[in-house]
Amino acid sequence: MSKQALTYDDIQLIPSYSTVSSRKNIQLNTFLTKRYQLCVPLIASCMDTVCESEMAIALAESGGAGCIHRFMRIEEQAKQVTHTVQALRKETTLHHWQQSFEHLTTHPVPIPIVAATGANGDYAERALALTAAGANIILIDVAHGHHENVKHAIEKLKSILPGHVDIIAGNIASATAAKDLENWGADGLRVGVGGGSLCTTRLKTGFGVPNVTCLQDILAVTGLPVIADGGIRTSGDIAKALALGASSVMLGSLIAGTKEAPGQIIEKSNGLFKRYRGAASLETKMAHNQEQRNVEGESTIIPFKGGVKFVVEGLLDGIRSALSYGGADHLKVFRPEYVTVTHAGQAEARPHLIY
Ligand code: XMP
Repeated sequence: MSKQALTYDDIQLIPSYSTVSSRKNIQLNTFLTKRYQLCVPLIASCMDTVCESEMAIALAESGGAGCIHRFMRIEEQAKQVTHTVQALRKETTLHHWQQSFEHLTTHPVPIPIVAATGANGDYAERALALTAAGANIILIDVAHGHHENVKHAIEKLKSILPGHVDIIAGNIASATAAKDLENWGADGLRVGVGGGSLCTTRLKTGFGVPNVTCLQDILAVTGLPVIADGGIRTSGDIAKALALGASSVMLGSLIAGTKEAPGQIIEKSNGLFKRYRGAASLETKMAHNQEQRNVEGESTIIPFKGGVKFVVEGLLDGIRSALSYGGADHLKVFRPEYVTVTHAGQAEARPHLIY
């Protein structure tokens, strides 16, 4: 039986009574996996034009995390992990993290070091090298995460990796998938299929579930931390995902144009740009000598945005403001009600004086 599915633009959150005296008092700490926490609910996507060590370091310094992509040789990815771990020994970063959790614990909170593997080929060897280099979270980066290969990969990684390593698995878009991945041993879920800014999966295959309904279906059946992934364009979208109960959001297009994203700045007569390409785009497949089949993504250039720290600060301002409208001083109690909106409501939600 079919049901109507909604995405971020289809809903608006309803302001709630608030006793939050200042946005400064709003805490954004959250769980990324069962055992690892973030100071702020943002994680950089494991794409080759989004996250290598420079991005992972910058995000961690801001209180989030970056997932180092897997489209490189094992030794190179392990080196990226080592570099990230070494940079994060900085006193100021450790102090920032500890401060974010001092209202909860006096114990040191470990900074999550996240790196991606696939679910076949060299994935086990890769995961061992990444954890030996210092990764404490392995993300199984697969387009269709509700798959036998992912079941085997989780079971295998759980049996060979050190006990302190958590596993994030995905991507998924159904309640059944969430329950299965939880039963297979996942410690966190990456949720969203076909909703990313460069995705062509829904066009090419007809599969995927609009993001709001996708999150609701999954959050109704799992207690695992959920990462809302794909289609996040504004801090308003982030607020909606968090209001529905997602623990964090994964960012691609929002941070791909920054200095810390891999790739050169491209100078054109109309400004500065950087490349952003889908993990399953033809360009990515060609760049990594992969078979040029099953293309399910686009590639493009996007305006250069400067340092990621400033982008993140802007997003965090928006998220703190959202919690204030929702009468919440931390994410766990941020559960405002929402309405579904018409096209007229969507038009009203954007600046509409300027023609
Ligand atoms: P945003 O909207 O933040 O989305 O740019 C980032 C997410 O998009 C997914 N992704 C893809 N999905 N084909 C797809 O169908 C692709 O080539 C592709 N590349 C990335 C991924 O989940 C990422 O985090």
